[in-house]
Amino acid sequence: MGIKALGYLVVTTKDPAEWDRFLTALVGAMRVADSPDGAALYRVDDRVFRFRIEKGDEERLTAAAYELGDADELAALRKRIAAAGRPVVDGTADEALVRGVAAFFRTSDPAGNRLEFFHGDSRTGEPFVSPLGVPGFVTGELGMGHAVFCAPDFAATVAFYRDVVGFHETDMPRFYFGGGGADDAGIGFAFLHADNGRHHSIALGEGPVPESGCVHIMLELPSLLEVGKAHDRMKAMGYVESATLGQHFNDETVGFYVRTPGGFDLEIGCDSLVIDPAHWEVTCHTGISIWGHEWAWQKAMKQAQQSQAAE
Ligand SMILES: [Fe+2]
Repeated sequence: MGIKALGYLVVTTKDPAEWDRFLTALVGAMRVADSPDGAALYRVDDRVFRFRIEKGDEERLTAAAYELGDADELAALRKRIAAAGRPVVDGTADEALVRGVAAFFRTSDPAGNRLEFFHGDSRTGEPFVSPLGVPGFVTGELGMGHAVFCAPDFAATVAFYRDVVGFHETDMPRFYFGGGGADDAGIGFAFLHADNGRHHSIALGEGPVPESGCVHIMLELPSLLEVGKAHDRMKAMGYVESATLGQHFNDETVGFYVRTPGGFDLEIGCDSLVIDPAHWEVTCHTGISIWGHEWAWQKAMKQAQQSQAAE
């Protein structure tokens, strides 16, 4: 058995109040009682929390935490990761308790992207009530959403997730941002699924690891109506739109990207493709988006060209 799903995210920030604003007033997450160790906790469903915001002296994603089926599977994974030469640090009983898990360990992929793996998850009977009236997020068996990392040692990092951790290839494209000419080598991407129907629970892009520790995370809303309302909130609150509304070829998600206070992006989307993980044939898309998704850097380039032409 491989990985069940993305369970929760740990973020470190100098400014927990700004993350609180982002999560409650833009995303619609529900703040619950702080962790006994002082971290702020936010729910998007019946898991005891999905975001754990720790105060510290940096701005970054500290861990994407993935769930294993049971203690034996976690122990077997721990062994494989250690044998692959990656550092493994067991969480203490207290740390596991405040995460709402039976046990976990910390590690990182060959590019240094930080991960936690756990088993024994916790749910609550307290209803999820969004402060914005968001009816819910698409989670359940599909997990919280996905996380996307960068890796300069791309092939080795993909091999780590596939051969050591146990994710499975869904879409293995190369994207040509420079037009695909002779001088454009393209950038490798890997979209990998866990043992559930979400098209990808983790993805990797070929390139240097950003200071924020992450490229983007993704949350799925139940309808385009909810995505549109979130998009309006982003604009009203003055958050930076990293990519305009659009639809991806590979997972069919319709949504947009907003810059989080952590310096990485949050993709907020809907209508994501659900795959049959046991019978999936790996695809190799050549484009990222069917429509939309104008990236902030593309917009800036266009504006610079326009002002140059006007001079
Ligand atoms: Fe994404």
